[in-house]
This record gives sequence, structure tokens and C-alpha cells, in this order.
Amino acid sequence: MNAPNVSLKGLDLRAEIDRLRLERNAIVLAHYYQAPEIQDLADFVGDSLDLSRKAAATDAEVIAFCGVRFMAETAKILSPDKIVILPDMNAGCSLEDSCPPEQFAAFRAQHPDHIALTYINSSAEVKALSDIIVTSSSAETILNQLPPEQKIIFGPDKHLGGWLNRRFGRDMLLWPGVCIVHEAFSETELLKLKAKHPGAPVLAHPECPPHIIDHADYVGATSGILKYALESESELLIVATEPHIIHQMEKAAPHKTFIGAPGADGNCNCNMCPYMALNTLEKLYVALRDLQPRIEIEEGLRLAAKKSLDRMLEMAAHTVGKGDVGKPQISGD
Ligand code: 13P
Ligand code: SF4
Repeated sequence: MNAPNVSLKGLDLRAEIDRLRLERNAIVLAHYYQAPEIQDLADFVGDSLDLSRKAAATDAEVIAFCGVRFMAETAKILSPDKIVILPDMNAGCSLEDSCPPEQFAAFRAQHPDHIALTYINSSAEVKALSDIIVTSSSAETILNQLPPEQKIIFGPDKHLGGWLNRRFGRDMLLWPGVCIVHEAFSETELLKLKAKHPGAPVLAHPECPPHIIDHADYVGATSGILKYALESESELLIVATEPHIIHQMEKAAPHKTFIGAPGADGNCNCNMCPYMALNTLEKLYVALRDLQPRIEIEEGLRLAAKKSLDRMLEMAAHTVGKGDVGKPQISGD
């Protein structure tokens, strides 16, 4: 579907991408889970919240989104006049797949007194059925603006929702979705690693299941994990999220050691996001050359989805980017 249709052999892809982005007046946005060579050429690398803010604010005519489809869709919803390209249209997300809009609509209909607080890792259709969107870096700020008696459905990530419930004493109804990447960390292997490196802080994304979160010294979004890793006095840290974020850590703090938390056999690639990995330099070059594959969203759907995204941007307005998610949360505090 997205295969380059001419041989790219002999092309200096990096130089060609630089030429095309100037010619097209394009900005290249990349998530921390992208391959290092993509992160290194991006105009901006960030978490889901920072990337949506960047997409909403850019003057560029083209947004080349190196991330997954729901992120590129968010960019199109917020910036409808821009051309938004995604190097590989198959770059989905297991959380989005777990939440088909018809089933979500039926679940909402069963709970008419609840509002829907929805993780950004969802389709435009599910966003359109929701009241407020959150990212992992804005979820706690937004939840804390809702009165304790407010009845809430949280989807599609049961682990992020469960962590918020435990942390803030909430009782949100959880949609049963999971991220296949964070689900794959092994508690046994993590405990072995901790025993080998006593005192090394464990940093975990809230998409991790509780048996991983329970061993974490810090729980937060990718940007928060990065910030904590760089500010920590520790020289060795264990990182329980998709391991490509370690590239930014090693660049900013080459004297420190960052170890990715292990999967079931202690040494598998199961914690790499297979969807993020679909984007490559070759596909980015072709996308900039052809301005395809392009995200298109029907206008009625876009406007409906934009409402819940706008509420997120308003309610998270005071959440400073680059992972300033408040005081680092030490498990148990
Ligand atoms: P962040 O918003 O923390 O970058 O998370 C995005 C994501 O998909 C994590 O799996
Ligand atoms: Fe989706 Fe998980 Fe990949 Fe993030 S890491 S994009 S939540 S599958």
C-alpha cells in the first residue's frame, strides 16, 4: 500500500528529505518511539500532548507525522487546512483497535449519567463520541478539574484509567483495552534486573499493568519519563516504556546508563511498538515527495472530534510541555 514505487537506491535520503521539506514548507513531527534516524531529522520530537499542540500551532503547509495514525488524525482535526501525511497508513495502535466506535457508543448508551473521558489513543469516531480527551501527560490535571461525584467512563486504556483511579481515589468505569507493548513487560524479569542493580530507579509509563507500576519510582508520560531520567542524580535507570525513547536520554546524558525493562524471556523485542516501527526514512521520503498517504477526515466527524480535543487543550493549558507533569510521583506517595 505504501511501498515506494521507484527504486530509492543511491538516493541520499537525509538530503532528499531536507530538500523536500523546504520545497513543501513541511514540518516533520516525531514521537519518542520512532527510530533514532527519524527522531534525529525531525523538527520536533515530543509526547502526544506536545505533538498535538505543535500541530495546532504550526505555520507549515504540510505536517509529516512520524508517529501512529491517531496522532496524525489529531493533527488533521486541529489543523484542517494543512496537508497531513503519515509515512505508513498501517501505523495503528492496539488501544485504538480495542475500541470500535459502535461498541463504545453502546457502552455510553448504557451509562447515560456518565461523561466520557477518553485517551487520545483512539479513533476520530471515538473522540467524536467523547466529552474530553486526555493524554498521559494531561490526564491528572484534567481529572482533578472534574468534581469527585462526577460519574466517568474512561477508555480505552484500562491500565491508565486504573492507575488514575488508584492514585486519585476515583471510581471511573474502565474500557478493557491495553497497549500490547506495555503489557509485555515481565514482572519476574524486572525484579531480577532490580536485584542486579539495587537502587536504580524504575520509570514506568501508566500504560503498564499494575504489577509493573507497583515497582516504579516514577510513573508518567514519555516526556515526564525523559525529564525524570535527565534530572535524576542516579547514573543508572531502568526504563519501562517503548525503548526508542532511550535514544533521547543517551543523547542528552551520555554519561548515564539507561536499561530498557525486559519482556517475558528477558531479552525479546516484544516491547518495541510494531506500529511505530512501520515508519521508515524511505517511506517518509516518498510521503514528502508524493504528499501521500494523506489523512482525510469528513468535516462533520472532524468538528465532532475537535470539540473533545479542544476541551483537552483548554483544560491542560497550564500543563507545561516537555513533561512538566508536576512533582515526580514516587510510587506509594
Ligand atoms: P505519550 O503521550 O506519553 O507520549 O504516550 C503515547 C503512547 O502511545 C504511549 O504508548
Ligand atoms: Fe499504541 Fe502501545 Fe504503540 Fe503507544 S506503544 S502507539 S499505545 S501500541
